[in-house]
Amino acid sequence: MSEQQMKKQVFKPNKEFAKTARIKNMCEYHELQDAAIEDYEGFWGSYAKEKIDWIQPFDGVMDESNFPFVKWFEGGKLNVSAQCIDRHLDTRKNKAAIIFEGDRGDKQIITYLELYYQVNKFANLLRNEFGVAKGDRVVIYMPMIPEAAYAMLACARIGAIHSIVFGGFSAEALRDRIEDADAKVVLTADGAYRKDKPYMLKPVVDKALEGETPVEKVLVVQRNHEDIEWVSGRDYSYNEMIEQQSTAFEPEVMDAEDPLFLLYTSGSTGKPKGVQHNSAGYILWAQMTMEWVFDVKENDTYWCTADIGWITGHTYIVYGPLAMGATTVMFEGVPTYPDAGRPWKMVEEYKINQFYTAPTAIRVLHKMGEDEPAKYDLSSLKVLGTVGEPIDPPAWKWYYESVGNSNCAIVDTYWQTETGGHIISPLPGATPIKPACATFALPGIMAEILDPETGEKVGVDEKGYMCVTRPWPSMIRGVWGDEERFVKSYFGDVKKDGKPVYFTGDGAVYDEEGYITITGRTDDVINVSGHRMGTAEVEAALKKESEVAEVAVVGKPHPLKGEGIFAYVVLKHGLDESRFEDDVAMVKALNGIIKQEIGNIAVCDDIVFVPGLPKTRSGKIMRRILRSIAKGEEITQDISTLEDPSVVEKIISIVKS
Ligand code: WTA
Repeated sequence: MSEQQMKKQVFKPNKEFAKTARIKNMCEYHELQDAAIEDYEGFWGSYAKEKIDWIQPFDGVMDESNFPFVKWFEGGKLNVSAQCIDRHLDTRKNKAAIIFEGDRGDKQIITYLELYYQVNKFANLLRNEFGVAKGDRVVIYMPMIPEAAYAMLACARIGAIHSIVFGGFSAEALRDRIEDADAKVVLTADGAYRKDKPYMLKPVVDKALEGETPVEKVLVVQRNHEDIEWVSGRDYSYNEMIEQQSTAFEPEVMDAEDPLFLLYTSGSTGKPKGVQHNSAGYILWAQMTMEWVFDVKENDTYWCTADIGWITGHTYIVYGPLAMGATTVMFEGVPTYPDAGRPWKMVEEYKINQFYTAPTAIRVLHKMGEDEPAKYDLSSLKVLGTVGEPIDPPAWKWYYESVGNSNCAIVDTYWQTETGGHIISPLPGATPIKPACATFALPGIMAEILDPETGEKVGVDEKGYMCVTRPWPSMIRGVWGDEERFVKSYFGDVKKDGKPVYFTGDGAVYDEEGYITITGRTDDVINVSGHRMGTAEVEAALKKESEVAEVAVVGKPHPLKGEGIFAYVVLKHGLDESRFEDDVAMVKALNGIIKQEIGNIAVCDDIVFVPGLPKTRSGKIMRRILRSIAKGEEITQDISTLEDPSVVEKIISIVKS
């Protein structure tokens, strides 16, 4: 069957599952969406009242008078850590909140009561020993261990704003994020384990903090107990200090719009942006989407394989599952170690009911272990999720048939760091699904594909811009320290009825039944293994090599990673006169710089040395041409307007050789 034919298939929800689903059929879905359209504030206000344990109720639902600076649930007071922990203590004290499995198979089950104690102790340590107060920024650079979740919730309990930096980022990238947020504390670990071997994080922190830095204190969780350096007066051992802390900590009373966290993400220009999410709106939608999209029941066990360094880990490992009182699995290791059956072994062992991962992981698990799922009892699975990039039909098919036994709903969840939670996704008990299709906007989300020129909704099969035309509770509240960038990045491209709307940066199409398929980024952001990477960042890193005169970076389809990074480099003196022996040495040097400036995740798959770049007469690099060349496509664009059209032929012959 061709991919096109595969995409046309429709899979109805499992009837048994639908009987007890929170949203049972498409009629119920439409009723909810119509209710939101009719009375938008009424819709959100009633959910906010029902779902959140308010310390003080809110007065107003939404204030968009200063759009795009929108406020939700003003006057309301809450604490997000209390929403995730304290309110469950009456009924779920002894229920597992977190099931942790280490790389080496070590296990830990943390009940809600234990989580309460651990988070309180952590909060006491941060407040009493480190002087962390409401509004302070705390950078978390940690592996996937329970202490990372405690750290997030302890910050929330104090009212401090956490900013998690993914453990794969380099010292330079970590330093940039620490400086931008002006963080005074870093929470880290000596390191952790990967594929049965220790790896290190603390040396990266040491390097990031060399010279001038706003950071006063560093707290180190000892996980792998390898030797590390301790800077006296700055570095403290969590393991030594935590036991003396009190298990009681009164949560700080927070305003609905007090910031909860920052998470840096790549855009099409400049350095990564500190995406800001605030307390009430974020936690409300995290919880509602957990309930609707994964339909987790009281005795279910849910596993999301993301890293807490990304938004998926924030919303769907920690905040969403805990806010709803679920059992969430946290995994330190890699899914293909010791073999590509590891996730399925864990599904069998813990009787996982909902499993959530990225298409890249599915492709790798498929390639490395096509028959592995059949070796395990996966009958507990009910909902399978994907996130982060478009999934291709063959990967979808394997996931549906071999992992889900053609019995589970696949929720292809579309969202972004900025949206806080899912915005477009199937509902497992209601939506007839089509392979590799995010389907419909969730109830309450006014998502539309618009023509960027006219602001009108596009017709069937016409490509347009994926927009959200009304603010929603978990919408990004700002770019840290840069109001103008916030407005320009998200509300500058598309207007509907003359008013700016939120533009995601993605293209999308409707099919004849109104199903939405996301077609990928329309800007200079590439998606490598589900990780967002700005081409401008990679270019800036490559330009640090003194022999580089010019550089242009584009994405190129990659069979496993979705997209790979392809760099065109113009050298100042040509290779012959450079201090490098050959191309190979130069490529190695350039990727070395990338590892240093950004991290291993940004290493280029291809670096080619070219005599020049295709530019218009006004000096603009024609990236579309470079993208086509990288893909090996025919050049159909008009190149006669280029400053030097002959450069295109030269580049093509170099890439082909
Ligand atoms: C892409 C990850 C297609 C998209 C949660 C978006 C997707 C970017 C999907 C956000 C999906 C995410 N189908 N594309 N189901 N989910 N994307 O901020 O390009 O790391 O803009 O958030 O990932 O990446 P981010």
